[in-house]
Amino acid sequence: MSEKILIIGACGQIGSELTFKLRRIYGEENVIASDISYSNENIVNSGIFEIVDAQDYASVMVCVEKYKIDTIYLMAAMLSATGEKYPMKAWDLNMTSLFHVLNLARAKFIKKVFWPSSIAVYGSTTPKEYTPQYTIMEPSTVYGITKQVGERWCEYYYNKYDVDVRSIRYPGIISWKTLPGGGTTDYAVEIYHEAIKNKSYECFLKADTELPMMFMDDAIKATVDIMKAKASSIKIRSSYNLAAISFTPKEVADSIKKHIPDFNIEYKPDYRQEIANSWPKSINDSYARQDWKWKHKFLLDDITKEMLFQLDKKYNQTK
Ligand code: SER
Repeated sequence: MSEKILIIGACGQIGSELTFKLRRIYGEENVIASDISYSNENIVNSGIFEIVDAQDYASVMVCVEKYKIDTIYLMAAMLSATGEKYPMKAWDLNMTSLFHVLNLARAKFIKKVFWPSSIAVYGSTTPKEYTPQYTIMEPSTVYGITKQVGERWCEYYYNKYDVDVRSIRYPGIISWKTLPGGGTTDYAVEIYHEAIKNKSYECFLKADTELPMMFMDDAIKATVDIMKAKASSIKIRSSYNLAAISFTPKEVADSIKKHIPDFNIEYKPDYRQEIANSWPKSINDSYARQDWKWKHKFLLDDITKEMLFQLDKKYNQTK
């Protein structure tokens, strides 16, 4: 019998693409998408979809029992930029949902958990270049605090209650299907949309702000691979550093100009600059590469080509 999977936060940027991928792997009937509202038509209309409030234990539990769920991917969270506007809401959502899922696993209602962490666990006292797995972690955003604390709890539930929880620290994720919501790395998606729509973009980070980034296909591959790996090869039960590439807004703009020579970018840094400044520029992910054979594929120019191609289809072929 195939594994039964529940994705919480399936309407979001990563959740939506993960849903499609897992359905291809495990079969439509075995992957239940859920979110707090019907906010993504493609997901709601493409297979089994349930309204689940990740902050309400009963709501999650009803869905787990209804479909006899084995594995939960908890993709619901408030990201870094929005989290700074609503600190307590971010804390409540990010922590409560994690505890509900960990407790379901502890009580053996489910067998396996995926929970994403982030480069936001790092702060301004962390070494910025090629940031190691084990280093100083003093996050300055509420989002980063919830991710760091969450990692500690994941490891605790693994050690004390034998909960099979697996996690990766995603960098900024670039994709064209579903827009990201409320993150500091969102500029790296918006810039492609604006390049296609208006040939110009006003960037909320400075030209030379270097951050770790990854194309969605690589992020999904990492997620699927870590969950498929033998339990014994997952040696880190807090969260794995994960890397692909690093770039600055200027470098993305230059990459776009290879296709749209008259693309124009202006820089108007806002409150998100301070968040970006506190994060690493690049990540050492050697443990992921060693333990479960992680390998990225997409480089900046590959990403630019694919983003511009897909967004051009989306905006210009529907006119
Ligand atoms: N993309 C996220 C953010 O910017 C980082 O995990 O908040």
